[in-house]
Formats: sequence, C-alpha cells, structure tokens
Amino acid sequence: MTVDESTVVLGLETSCDETAASVVMGGSDVLSSVINTSIEQHVPFGGVVPEIASRAHVELIAPVIAQAIEESGVADTRIDAVAATVGPGLIGALLVGVAAAKALALVWDVPFVGVNHLEAHLYAGLLEDPSLELPLVVLLVSGGHTMLIEMSAHGQYRLLGETIDDAAGEAFDKVARFLGLGYPGGPAIDREAQYGDPTAVAFPRAIPDSLNFSFSGLKTAVMNHVRKHPDSVTADIAASFQTAVVDSLVAKARRAAREVGAKGLVLGGGVAANSLLRQRWATACDEDGIQAFVPSRAMCTDNAAMIAAAGWYRLKSDGPTSLDCGAYPGLRLPLVQSYTP
Ligand code: KG4
Ligand code: ZN
Repeated sequence: MTVDESTVVLGLETSCDETAASVVMGGSDVLSSVINTSIEQHVPFGGVVPEIASRAHVELIAPVIAQAIEESGVADTRIDAVAATVGPGLIGALLVGVAAAKALALVWDVPFVGVNHLEAHLYAGLLEDPSLELPLVVLLVSGGHTMLIEMSAHGQYRLLGETIDDAAGEAFDKVARFLGLGYPGGPAIDREAQYGDPTAVAFPRAIPDSLNFSFSGLKTAVMNHVRKHPDSVTADIAASFQTAVVDSLVAKARRAAREVGAKGLVLGGGVAANSLLRQRWATACDEDGIQAFVPSRAMCTDNAAMIAAAGWYRLKSDGPTSLDCGAYPGLRLPLVQSYTP
C-alpha cells in the first residue's frame, strides 16, 4: 500500500493508566486525540495498580475509540491502518489495546501496526513540528525511562546516555511520596516548588564526565536532609530537588548535542511537562545556537496521537505488522549502535 500525506491512521495507547485513541492523517495532522485515565483509582495506592489499569482499559477502550473517530470528522471507512502500543508497559494493559487494534484491523480489512511506546515519545516532537531538522538529540524523560537519544534519520536511533538507577520521573514520584505531596509526584513537586527557594539546599548534581544519569543518590540525599532537619520547609526542599534534577538533565543534553553536532534538542516523555525544565531547555538552546523543541504538555504525557504518528512512519518504512505480534512489557528501543565517547 502507498503511505502518503492522505493516509489516515487510528492510534491506540494503553500501556499504563491512560486509555487513548487518536486519528492522525499523513503522520502529523492530528484530527482528534482523546485521552481518558484511571489515575484517580490508583491514587489511594500511591502508584498504578496493574489489574485496576487493565480493567479500566477494557471498560474505556470502545467509547474512547468511538469518540476519537467521531471527533476526527472522518468516517471509519476512511481509516487506512490501526496502530497500537505493543510495549513497553504493563502486560494486561497493553493486551487490551493490541487486541482492540487487531480486531478493528480485521473487521475493516486494513493493516495493523505495532508501535514501540518509546519510539512514539520520540515522534511527539516531530508531530508538532515536522520541519525539525535531523540529526536531533531527544531527551526522553518519563516514569520508567531517562534516555538521551540521537535520531539521525527516521528509525535510526543511537543511545548516548541513560540512567544507571532511577528514572527521573520515578525520582519525582518517590521524593513526592516521601514529602507527603501525593501521587503522581512530578506535577505535585512542580506545583510546590513554585513557592520554594531553589537555592535553599545544595543537593548533589550529575555524574561528571559521562552522559549517563543517576537520581538514586539525589533521592537519598533529600531523605537524609529532611530526617536531619525535620523543620525544613517542604516547598524549599521540592524546589531544591527539582533544580538538581533539571540541572543534570539540561547539562547532559547540551553536552550530548555538542558532541554529536545535533541541529536541535527535543524534549519528550511525562517529565517534559515540568515547568522549570521547559524554561531552562529553551534558554540553553538559545545560548548554544541550536533549535529547541518543547512539545505541548499534552503531547509530552502519554497520548495516542504520538502512537498514530509513529505508526504512520513505521507503516511507510516496514509495512504492516503481522497479527501474530503480541504485547512486550520489556520492549527496548531499536538501536543502531551504542555510543562510545
Ligand atoms: O511518559 P509518562 O506520562 O508515562 C510513562 O511512560 O512513564 O510519564 C509519567 C511520569 C511520572 O513519573 C510523573 O510524575 C512525571 O512523568 N511527570 C512530571 C510532571 N508531570 C508528569 N514530572 C515532573 N514535573 C511534571 N510537571
Ligand atoms: Zn510514556
């Protein structure tokens, strides 16, 4: 089949707590993007409960798809392919989206496309600004991943650095829980930090001479500090912690862009919704004379428009995915080679 600007892809995303569906034309024209979430049901547990997430997906998937098609203004007969996240993520949650996508592909007699969730986060930037020039360095910061990736062509990824322990989002969530700020921790710390002094405590920064990250020591430093100084102001701790994380992320991303001669620096993943990171990203790129791209907050966190966009590119390069394809909780990004400085 020919995949071009008029090809319409329905994308489905169910890897964690969001049930999302989106209709995208030509890989970048978002006709609709519907996101529902079971997050409220997970709040009492302080984290996503896989079984609750799977059940919520089963209930939400059909109405969310129907709403996405209706809002797109296209008839279902106009949909040329159905893409779904096949991993990484929670197995039960992934299976709901994969099964729904395969069923629709069979009924409509159109291709099914299995999408890697991490690759989709990389495409969120290109989706909003298709004019971005390659090579790009993308900082992918989510609840499960912190990776610096060079994207030299579509589907060509090189891992430049990653976390050696906790992901940045995980560190936000753990520190927020410790500070009693609730779940999810990233937005809670972001809000609290607005009222705090970011220079109140000098928490440790990045590992020198490496493009890898480490956030576990920082998390422990926050806990030790609060235990030693029980009268610390929570907003000051939140602001100082957030600044330490953002300092590391920005410093390593800038260095990576310099080392590989990237034309632009793109942010992706849930932590890219962080106010300080977004601010500092733009300033850093301005100083270094490279293109900065910060996707809208809605495009940073999990959504199905990025799945449909990545699905369009994959369909164009690899063709349809076999219906034998399953769901792969530990799926990795397909890398061309790793980086040796
Ligand atoms: O990409 P995402 O929606 O889901 C995963 O694939 O992990 O990322 C979720 C992560 C959570 O750890 C959450 O605390 C973090 O993104 N997050 C933030 C903010 N909003 C979400 N972290 C810092 N500041 C925020 N404003
Ligand atoms: Zn994600």
